[in-house]
Amino acid sequence: MSDAATLEGELEALEAQALEAVATADSESLEELRVRYLGRKEGRVSAILRGLGGLDPAARPRVGQAANRVKGSIAKALDARAQALAEADVRPSGHGDLSLPGRSGWRGARHPVTLVIDELCTLFGEMGFSRARGPEIETDWYNFEALNTPLDHPAADEQDTLYLADGTHLLRSHTSPVQVRVLQTHEPPIRVLAPGMVFRRDTWDATHAPAFAQLEGLVVDEGVTFVDLKATLAEFARRFWGPGTEVRFRPSFFPFTEPSAEVDVKRVRTIREPDGSTRTEEGDWLEIMGAGMVDPAVLEAAGIDSERYTGFAFGMGPARIAMLRHAITDIRSLYENDIRFLSQFGPS
Ligand code: PHE
Repeated sequence: MSDAATLEGELEALEAQALEAVATADSESLEELRVRYLGRKEGRVSAILRGLGGLDPAARPRVGQAANRVKGSIAKALDARAQALAEADVRPSGHGDLSLPGRSGWRGARHPVTLVIDELCTLFGEMGFSRARGPEIETDWYNFEALNTPLDHPAADEQDTLYLADGTHLLRSHTSPVQVRVLQTHEPPIRVLAPGMVFRRDTWDATHAPAFAQLEGLVVDEGVTFVDLKATLAEFARRFWGPGTEVRFRPSFFPFTEPSAEVDVKRVRTIREPDGSTRTEEGDWLEIMGAGMVDPAVLEAAGIDSERYTGFAFGMGPARIAMLRHAITDIRSLYENDIRFLSQFGPS
């Protein structure tokens, strides 16, 4: 037989416990509390009410009244808390918080190197160049020998790359093999630009990446001379960096061009002062590409008559150009694919 005093004690404890829990509940736990204390089946107050039958009949009304009072008091607290939460909460339930700022979808951005490549292709496109491409996995014939570079030539060491297991295929160390592929498949006049990734056994540091982009240019026709090379590349530099840009050709060596040159540019900017006067500001000389007249041996290896045709070629690194453009000091940031960095540059 249950003892009336024990039940009354339990009811009081239950009330205190319930009121404390309700006071800090959120809307979800409020529902759980309602079930826990007042639920018909499992509710704790209901359990006590069910236990009334075991009491001394004289004590039943008193305990019953106390149980009903506690039930009413918990129900009132639950309602008050629900009301308070509804007033504090501007959310229409189930629709998220409409007062938060909007979240727009991430639209993506083109890679800064891709942006430079596209811009260069457009610019050279206006000068009559079309776009060509070749495979990243090449044979050593296309990568070296057809480009007048015997495999035991020191220039082949400089461009040491990764060989595939068969010993003759390699990851191309420059885009120049595309010259040979275009010469084999097209009749002059030829004017192409070939962008793509190249691979070298270089240490990954601030100025070297073992995989990086190059952009190759090739022009072959009757009567093409070094004047055409200089004029085309100077025109490119002025269109790309501005009309004041100075261009310098330094003698150099590549096995597949003769003569060869390194091309440097110096950017000269006109700055307008607040008082309306102007002054010019000169940058440093920056090396931007290798170039030269296509060696007759390259034309012959590709089956082009080197008595009839001449041409010039050039190769540059769009990553370097992107670095100059955005004052990026570490080439690795261009190839690490950190979206926080890459998404700053251009439209998708
Ligand atoms: N292929 C050369 C390099 O990777 C660049 C180059 C291309 C030089 C075309 C001359 C002509 O360094």
